[in-house]
Amino acid sequence: MVTQPGYDALAGLYFETFPTPYLTSLERYVVAAFADLVRESPVEGVVLDVGCGLGQVTADLAGQGLDVIGVDPSREMLAIAKRHHPELRFVQDDARLDATDLGGRRVAAVLARYSLIHVPPSEVPDVLAGWASRMDPGTFVAVAGQTTDTVGEIAEFDHLVAPAWRWHPDRLSAALSDAGFDEMWRTVSRTDAQHRFPDVHLVARRR
Ligand SMILES: C[S@@+](CC[C@H](N)C(=O)[O-])C[C@H]1O[C@@H](n2cnc3c(N)ncnc32)[C@H](O)[C@@H]1O
Repeated sequence: MVTQPGYDALAGLYFETFPTPYLTSLERYVVAAFADLVRESPVEGVVLDVGCGLGQVTADLAGQGLDVIGVDPSREMLAIAKRHHPELRFVQDDARLDATDLGGRRVAAVLARYSLIHVPPSEVPDVLAGWASRMDPGTFVAVAGQTTDTVGEIAEFDHLVAPAWRWHPDRLSAALSDAGFDEMWRTVSRTDAQHRFPDVHLVARRR
């Protein structure tokens, strides 16, 4: 499992800085639309909030009726998540999910919000393949992160906490497709006072 010393060190400050995970209404609506998709589909299984951080979105998904587990490599981020949401299940693990015991259950959906950005691009195909191996046809993935307008580009950027990469939406979509997930829809929002880079939210379905 990878460690996240940057997030461990800054977890308390992170909580003070981001008391809510949604910086815009669109971000909240996108997660709600994803939750609707999962809830209204016949797929069985648990929802994984991969890189759940403080667990705020995990709690939001649970509040929307999903059976969700938060997964994150940062012990300190998880400590805050557990303190605020003792009723929810959190697991210390990274996006590869090697240490996540699902008790034989399948995965109905994965949400990776601003967490896959921290996985070195050369490792992303393996990570996505690992998700696909735990998921049946018709299940869902949502990935959100900073993006770039340069077609095909994956650009490392100066994230304040940990190494991170911005993927062009088409490149992200192609990586998901290679792993067995077909894009359903995406939103791209432009830069604003709170976003230095454009942002992508991309939802795909397991084929
Ligand atoms: C920007 S925070 C996002 C937290 C949460 N998903 C949200 O939307 O509020 C990024 C999180 O990704 C986690 N992370 C970093 N590297 C990771 C990895 N390899 N696998 C899974 N999560 C990772 C960090 O520990 C951190 O909690």
